[in-house]
Amino acid sequence: MKAVRFSRFGGPEVLEIVEVARPHAGAGEVRIAVRAAGVNASDWKKRAGLMDQELPQTLGYEAAGVVDEVGEGVSTAQVGDRVFGFATSGAAQAESAVLSYFAPIPESVSFVDVAALPAALETAARALEQLGVRSGETLLISGASGNVGGAAVQLAVAQGVRVIGTAGPANHEFLRALGAEAVSYGEGLVERVRAIAPDGVDRALDVAGSGVLPELVELVGSAEQVVTLADFDGAQKFGVRFSRGDGGRALHVIDEIGGLIESGRFTLPEVRTFALADVAQAHRVGEEGRVRGKLVLVNDPVDQRD
Ligand SMILES: NC(=O)c1ccc[n+]([C@@H]2O[C@H](COP(=O)([O-])OP(=O)(O)OC[C@H]3O[C@@H](n4cnc5c(N)ncnc54)[C@H](OP(=O)(O)O)[C@@H]3O)[C@@H](O)[C@H]2O)c1
Repeated sequence: MKAVRFSRFGGPEVLEIVEVARPHAGAGEVRIAVRAAGVNASDWKKRAGLMDQELPQTLGYEAAGVVDEVGEGVSTAQVGDRVFGFATSGAAQAESAVLSYFAPIPESVSFVDVAALPAALETAARALEQLGVRSGETLLISGASGNVGGAAVQLAVAQGVRVIGTAGPANHEFLRALGAEAVSYGEGLVERVRAIAPDGVDRALDVAGSGVLPELVELVGSAEQVVTLADFDGAQKFGVRFSRGDGGRALHVIDEIGGLIESGRFTLPEVRTFALADVAQAHRVGEEGRVRGKLVLVNDPVDQRD
């Protein structure tokens, strides 16, 4: 089967489509014929050699498709089912992938749309759980308009949290549509947030990693009520928790998202699709950082819905 792989670190040109052996589902896993697989910022960080150092590497943590092999002990899926989920072995950008945690695809949702969700949702749900945010509290999210930020806004709003999100002016209306109050990032952030939340902010989540941890700590009054997903150095410097997946993942969120989507409480992100063979172009677009929404690789560009 075909899979995305790189055998040396570098720019998008090091990405190849190679033939590899089709994997098999182990105990508790399913194998899917992949219809769509998400692309994440970690993909180009890995490709550039900024993360794992082993070579060669395959890519892809999230995918949606049709089950074609069921591992021992699996009772929640059968061959032919439409499922989406996590490929923790990290090889979902391929024709087949083994999912270690999966859920049924809601009836009304396409393979492409649902493949865009697992990584951003898990990251957002994990960070909110680590923050311990509760209904009735006020949460500030720095970098609320991206894939992870947009998911965090919606999960928090669905829990009854008041969310103030930072975004560029062009995304303020978008943030309001997701249920957040929007403020601009940049100089004067503390004053702008205080103006709309004079009673204070209970907790803050840094998604953008743009160097605002001191302001977030100042606004909530304690480093313990702040979590960052993207500022590793700042976390060390200011005593803030850095959230990473290897400290326990909130995989269960994909079991719950179908209900939120079907009740209109979770809006699917915009998606831009690329054929699997065009993965290098997807990296170029993602690295430029100018596209709102999620990049998704598809195996069958003709029909992604059935
Ligand atoms: N630790 C983890 O487990 C984990 C997991 C997944 C992702 N991440 C990290 O989380 C970050 C976000 O990922 P993503 O997929 O959500 O990215 P994304 O969709 O590209 O979103 C990035 C957002 O950052 C916003 N932004 C840019 N400059 C900003 C600033 N100075 N202040 C506030 N916001 C700013 C942009 O908002 P505007 O367009 O409105 O300007 C954009 O919407 C990445 O660094 C990624 O590596 C961490």
